[in-house]
Amino acid sequence: MSFALIILAGGKGSRMNSNLPKVMHPLGQVPMLAHVLRTGEELKPRRTVMVVGHGAEQVSDWAKKVNDAITIVVQNPQLGTAHGVAQAKDALADYHGDVVIMYGDSPLILPSTLKELIASRSSSDLVILGFHSNSASGYGRLIMKGNLLERIVEEKDATEKQQQITLCNSGLMAGDKDLIFDLISDVHDDNAASEYYLTDIISIARNRGLSCSVVTCPEEETLGINSQAELARAEACFQARKRCEFMEKGVTLVAPETVHFAFDTIIAPDVKIDPYVIFGPSVEVNSGSHIRSFSFLEGAIIGEGCTVGPFARLRPETTLAEGARVGNFVELKKTELGKNTKVNHLSYLGDTQVGETTNIGAGTITCNYDGVGKSQTKIGDRAFVGSNTMFVAPVTVGDDVMVATGTVVDSDIEDGALAIGRTRMSKKLGGAGKMFALLRSRRK
Ligand code: UD1
Ligand code: CA
Repeated sequence: MSFALIILAGGKGSRMNSNLPKVMHPLGQVPMLAHVLRTGEELKPRRTVMVVGHGAEQVSDWAKKVNDAITIVVQNPQLGTAHGVAQAKDALADYHGDVVIMYGDSPLILPSTLKELIASRSSSDLVILGFHSNSASGYGRLIMKGNLLERIVEEKDATEKQQQITLCNSGLMAGDKDLIFDLISDVHDDNAASEYYLTDIISIARNRGLSCSVVTCPEEETLGINSQAELARAEACFQARKRCEFMEKGVTLVAPETVHFAFDTIIAPDVKIDPYVIFGPSVEVNSGSHIRSFSFLEGAIIGEGCTVGPFARLRPETTLAEGARVGNFVELKKTELGKNTKVNHLSYLGDTQVGETTNIGAGTITCNYDGVGKSQTKIGDRAFVGSNTMFVAPVTVGDDVMVATGTVVDSDIEDGALAIGRTRMSKKLGGAGKMFALLRSRRK
């Protein structure tokens, strides 16, 4: 299956009413374009050319970071999808064979569908990916003659009768490269939008006696994102897909519709996720772990048999070893917890390494930032850290240490030491009554 990929990502996306280029709007917490790129790349194209225009610099900088083998071409001004594809001609001058055209605003297409489209290219000169919809709006309609495609009519240009057609254009197309560029050279902009429509190459091909066929896929895959409402609908589809995927693999989701995943979330079988949990990018959860309600995790690796939450916040570069426990109102950032270590209540640990079987008491805080730079805290194995301890980083605490409640740890603690650092409490017997009396007399 040899082909080159052209991705159209140059349009303004005016219906999004946003300064962010449309294809950069996130789906599963990554620009929608990443989904298109990933689907395309999964079938290993010989070349990938991306057409950018609106927000060209932002889109191409991002794309280059994701895949520096992509060829970027700029379309300026943006005169329509046919004009967009035409910009890729020089970049593919030395390539011969099939091309597949994908739209950057249709991120839900599955690799298996793309594969089917490419496979059916052998039976006709051009293949279009279509879908059936009873409520299509904004999509081109496919005018068929028997099993073959005669032409595509854009909704804006369609008669009322044509608008009743339920077979629509997804935007995906496959055909021989030289043929497609040749057909595009005959496209005009005499239509409702005064644009050069890529879809016009079907009727041009038919007039030349060439054959065009249609492969169909479920409507959900072809959702094109043109507005914020469509973006939200695509996100809902993406999340539904992820939830099914994880449940099929053996992940327990108590209330699936309340759990949100990122594009790259990894969850092993036998993980239990309670209602209302959000996964940011780059999270991995290993078998036997339990993520409890209202937790937000990003950039974190959770080992086997851990418990996180409720109300936990795990920030990037956090790692929990097997059996670690993170409880309510705990924030961890760039922090490693060793095996069976517990941070159960109301704590912040940042830039911290904690050993095995250590207990971090309620309200413990690492003072890791001095207003200029970040510093490290290192705590050993089997330590017992009393409640409301402050670790003033940089600081290193050994193994088997006990830190008394309320201590400000401002220097290193040796293995096995007991550290206490707090002002002594004083008391006045019978003083409470006197104090209340004084306070009341002041109120009169
Ligand atoms: C397009 C199709 C329509 C199809 C629908 C599927 C055409 C003329 N119409 O309509 O038949 O049902 O997609 O979602 O192709 N782009 C450029 N340069 C341009 C114009 C667009 O790169 O000059 C890119 C856009 O960034 C977008 C894609 O092409 O990623 C599609 O353009 P858009 O304007 O959204 O087309 P639709 O009106 O949705
Ligand atoms: Ca579109």
